[in-house]
Amino acid sequence: MTVQDHEYVPGLAGIPAAESAISWIDGQVGILEYRGHRIEVLAERSNFEEVCWLLLHGALPTASELSGFRERIAAHRALSGEVVDAIRAFPPDGHPMAAIQAGLAALGMASPEVDLSDDASCDDAVVRILAATPSIIATFERSRQGLEVLPPDPALGRAANFLWMLTGTKPDELEAHVLDVALVLHADHTMNASTFTARVVASTEADPYSVCAAACGSLKGPLHGGANERVLQQLEAIGDADAVPGWTESQIAGKRKIMGFGHRVYKTKDPRSKILQDLATRLFERLGTTKIYDTALALEQIMLERLGDKGIHPNVDFFSGIVYSKMGIPTDMFTPIFAISRVAGWLAHWREQMQDNRIFRPRQVFGGSHGAEFLDIADR
Ligand code: CMC
Repeated sequence: MTVQDHEYVPGLAGIPAAESAISWIDGQVGILEYRGHRIEVLAERSNFEEVCWLLLHGALPTASELSGFRERIAAHRALSGEVVDAIRAFPPDGHPMAAIQAGLAALGMASPEVDLSDDASCDDAVVRILAATPSIIATFERSRQGLEVLPPDPALGRAANFLWMLTGTKPDELEAHVLDVALVLHADHTMNASTFTARVVASTEADPYSVCAAACGSLKGPLHGGANERVLQQLEAIGDADAVPGWTESQIAGKRKIMGFGHRVYKTKDPRSKILQDLATRLFERLGTTKIYDTALALEQIMLERLGDKGIHPNVDFFSGIVYSKMGIPTDMFTPIFAISRVAGWLAHWREQMQDNRIFRPRQVFGGSHGAEFLDIADR
């Protein structure tokens, strides 16, 4: 069969779009690895900055590489006045994912031009984007609330500093740890929609600010990163655990998707969701359970009975929103938190794409007609 003969495959399911060494999934067993390291081990023994280095450079950093990397990131967390002013001018009722998207574009405008043939220039852009993404979102949140925009605290790690810049309160150790693990879990996930978007934009030799801004647009959708926000709205709409069976049956009968379940690749429970569930359990033991959490556990149980044999299990978004809401983070900040982690994966894919680049240009299967007659406007 020649390439020309290939049939159109909706959603490109099963079609390789790139050769990549960054992450790997076994969807039948439920395994996720970053550069050969199991996600469970990274969640327990690593941290987000180390994982960024791993994804970008292919191996774990030495102690001095890690401390140098952290220092460089911390030094670029403060946004320039121009970028802060641009974010302050955003409509406060707009979605924070749009603010990150526009904020990254503004950051690119205010940063040195990236020379794609120069390793140091590319590396500098990586550090600037990693450093600024949480600051963009915290600045937007503070500004839409009419609160003072807070400067970053260089003594804090990525998760703790983000919580500080967002809320103005230094987070306790467990909360900072939980968020750091959540960032580790979301950093990369093979050829998902936003990563594919990033690689397509990268293939045009656009700068990495444009690459990440475009990927944010893709992540925002409810079938991708936007699902975590929808999960919480869904649990609130269900109300309590007793209402779960009736609600689930009506969703299934109406052929409506249940948010936080199902995955193109995983046909078993997403390993990231298991880790997040453990973290949620610790957090809820410490801070007390909620109706939302009890409803979530009941929904997981009913879904297992009803759709488990179809391979539909909880995905990463099912427990992430529950965890973030318990930490007092506003619902529309859930997908931005996904973004401040996944930006690491997008940047790793940008660099990988540039090593052996060819512009993406798939073909289409034409479903239209030919020979249309052009009528003058008065005759249509
Ligand atoms: N609830 C009910 N039925 C479902 C669900 C669900 N969440 N997910 C899949 N199905 C059904 C689907 O209707 C289809 O049924 P049938 O064979 O009768 O037509 C069957 O399962 C196969 O599903 P699919 O739609 O072909 O699966 P897909 O690979 O195209 O879509 C998905 C994957 C994640 C978009 C989908 O499962 C979904 O929409 N889930 C809800 C949204 C969600 O939680 N998204 C987050 C994904 S994980 C994080 C991320 O990647 O961002």
